[in-house]
Amino acid sequence: MYLCARMEQLDKEIAIRRTFAIVSHPDAGKTTLTEKLLLFGGAIQEAGAVKSNKIKKTTTSDFMEIEKQRGISVATSVMAFEYRDLKINILDTPGHKDFAEDTYRTLTAVDSVIVVIDVAKGVEEQTERLVEVCRMRQTPIIVFINKLDREGLDGFDLLDEIEAKLKLKVTPLSWPAGMGQRFKGVYSLYKQNLILFRPHSKQTDDVVEISSLDDPALDQHVGPALANELREETEIIETVYPAFDRQEYLAGHVSPVFFGSAVNNFGVRELLDCFVEIAPPPLPRITEERLVKPNEDVFTGFVFKIHANIDPRHRDRIAFLRICSGKFERNTPYFHVRQGRPLRFSNPTSFMASKKEIVDEAFPGDVIGLYDSGNFKIGDVLTTGEELHFKGMPNFSPEIFRYVNNEDPLKSKQFVKGLDQLMDEGVAQLFTREMDGRKIIGVVGNLQLDVIQYRLEHEYTARVSYEPTNFYKACWVTCDDKKAMADFENRRGRDLARDTDDRLVFLAESPWMLKMAQDNHPEVEFHFTSEF
Ligand code: G4P
Repeated sequence: MYLCARMEQLDKEIAIRRTFAIVSHPDAGKTTLTEKLLLFGGAIQEAGAVKSNKIKKTTTSDFMEIEKQRGISVATSVMAFEYRDLKINILDTPGHKDFAEDTYRTLTAVDSVIVVIDVAKGVEEQTERLVEVCRMRQTPIIVFINKLDREGLDGFDLLDEIEAKLKLKVTPLSWPAGMGQRFKGVYSLYKQNLILFRPHSKQTDDVVEISSLDDPALDQHVGPALANELREETEIIETVYPAFDRQEYLAGHVSPVFFGSAVNNFGVRELLDCFVEIAPPPLPRITEERLVKPNEDVFTGFVFKIHANIDPRHRDRIAFLRICSGKFERNTPYFHVRQGRPLRFSNPTSFMASKKEIVDEAFPGDVIGLYDSGNFKIGDVLTTGEELHFKGMPNFSPEIFRYVNNEDPLKSKQFVKGLDQLMDEGVAQLFTREMDGRKIIGVVGNLQLDVIQYRLEHEYTARVSYEPTNFYKACWVTCDDKKAMADFENRRGRDLARDTDDRLVFLAESPWMLKMAQDNHPEVEFHFTSEF
């Protein structure tokens, strides 16, 4: 009986949760859209509460000194709000491309994604990379084409570009009447009504119910020329694009497209209303051992992000845990799979926009913050006792490699500790060369190098310098044949290193060197990600 009530509560809690991320190329309007969604949800009261993550702007969701300095949202934060009886979690992602790995990891913790595209710029480079990651995992995607108050690309050309560059099949659920100076509003193909554009409208859009596109009211509102254009264009849409099918969207096969203007709060409510109707509740997750379903009675969750130094006076960290199944309860011991021991949390926090509050319980789809004094690494798993390893959070080969040197021999302890902790947070990858123990940092972008140097100095009092290397790629190597592996290690010893999980890594100096190693050692497998 007790179990029955527990399961019922769990099912109910799962059904009301939606956890997603907004992704875009910097400047397309991700921050602005996030803010408008939070305004609708009542999580914030005024515009400007969520700040953009760009240079020279500070942000409420940034905790670290370095972010204040640089104004770049190095960190990922979580913003929860309620809307139409649903509990919605938005996971924010850093906009800067040098922190792309952070974004990829956050995408493992969401169930769907909204992609923002600037109508004038079309599909930009970073959007392509982010959508590729979503596509690999079949994450359902909604596209929001932003800045319709400005002149931009033709709607059909944009849809073609999205299909070609993002390799997404699309189906428009709204369509603009005009653009830029001529912009009059959007016609919702989903709700079949017309939403009139009023710049900087406060809360609700001006919705005009029209019986059909032939309704003369349409001509009155947008003028005969635009009304006719809209009629012709919607006819084309109906013949060219498939009718919206939720199952196809949920399977990641088709992406609905909306048009609007985030800064004018236009088209945002329509987007949100559709989102809450179609977006998936918390989905099952794959582990190396088995599929974990959200409505299982046993609690499971994984850490996808670690924030350091929330309070500069204490060196504590906060680990962001995505709950995958069961119910999380405060002060209950849970099994830390990597450490093989129980841990108990007395003050887990939830995130309501900029506020943090202690929670007694949390459910699948929720992200909670766990105070951590160094127990967690990215990817760590908590369960009620089962040995599980969630998949989908691999390291990719870094693109830039540097030797890292400790500049002050008296601070070598701080240097080692600082590096270890920054690696646990996933700030970069660290390799220790087998031959001489030299430490090599691998990153995606130069900004990460600056962050490491700054944080080691300010948080750990360790001054470091970098030295160039010739490495171009890191490959994880394995081999079933012990003799062949020993031979490989013997011959290529100077190119081998260990990652922080003690896995063997081949550091190639050029594509040619890599090919040669592969040809000379056919029994050895070279993996381009750490998950194999
Ligand atoms: P991001 O997080 O994706 O990097 O973009 P963000 O929301 O910061 O928006 C980038 C710029 O685009 C901002 O202008 C923002 O005001 C503007 N913007 C967002 N939505 C719209 C829109 O619908 N129409 C138009 N015309 N502009 C839009 P900014 O000048 O960089 O910053 P701010 O001074 O306005 O904050």
